[in-house]
Amino acid sequence: MSFEIKSMTNINEGIEEILITHEELIKRIEEVGKEISKDYVGKNPLLIALLKGSVPFLSELLNSIYIPMEYECVKVSSYCGTKSTGCVTIEGLNKLSIENRNLIIIEDIVDSGLTIQKTIEALNEYHPASIEVATLLDKPSMRQIENIHPKYICFKIPNKFVVGFGLDFNQQFRNLPYVGVLKPTMYME
Ligand code: PRP
Repeated sequence: MSFEIKSMTNINEGIEEILITHEELIKRIEEVGKEISKDYVGKNPLLIALLKGSVPFLSELLNSIYIPMEYECVKVSSYCGTKSTGCVTIEGLNKLSIENRNLIIIEDIVDSGLTIQKTIEALNEYHPASIEVATLLDKPSMRQIENIHPKYICFKIPNKFVVGFGLDFNQQFRNLPYVGVLKPTMYME
């Protein structure tokens, strides 16, 4: 399914409300980075970032993790437009050395929980020592998979369609420096 993006000269025009400012994002991500650093001393964690939405979050998080660590990126897809398609695909896992590693999945948002559930299942096939989840946003009211509880959550948000800081609508708006609610007119005729 494809959606037509309304023409804009500035992507801020597509935003109804700023939900989390850039300053709030940076401050909270720094706190989470320090928390991860304390929890993983001596464990050389391997961060597995799920492309593409988690890139700005990963990038900012790296600035405040001060212990030895590594990161890899894999492509996971589950959405088309504003609706989940219910199908999840993961590329590139077989090229990673995951066995006995302490993994932290890096996500931009946990919504239904389907992507995280499928990713954890796929990672477990490679026998890691542990798996935790760090997510920028958590939308618990949309959860379909009940036993998904990310250890590190930067912000819990209400059930609104949000974009920015990596989150997209039809691949657009990822470059907003804040998290904002998309104007319904952007995706309605
Ligand atoms: C989005 C988001 C999460 C997932 C969350 O990914 O980045 O990975 O959906 O939804 P869920 O909890 O309902 O599964 P998307 O497939 O849109 O890919 P993207 O990261 O490239 O935007």
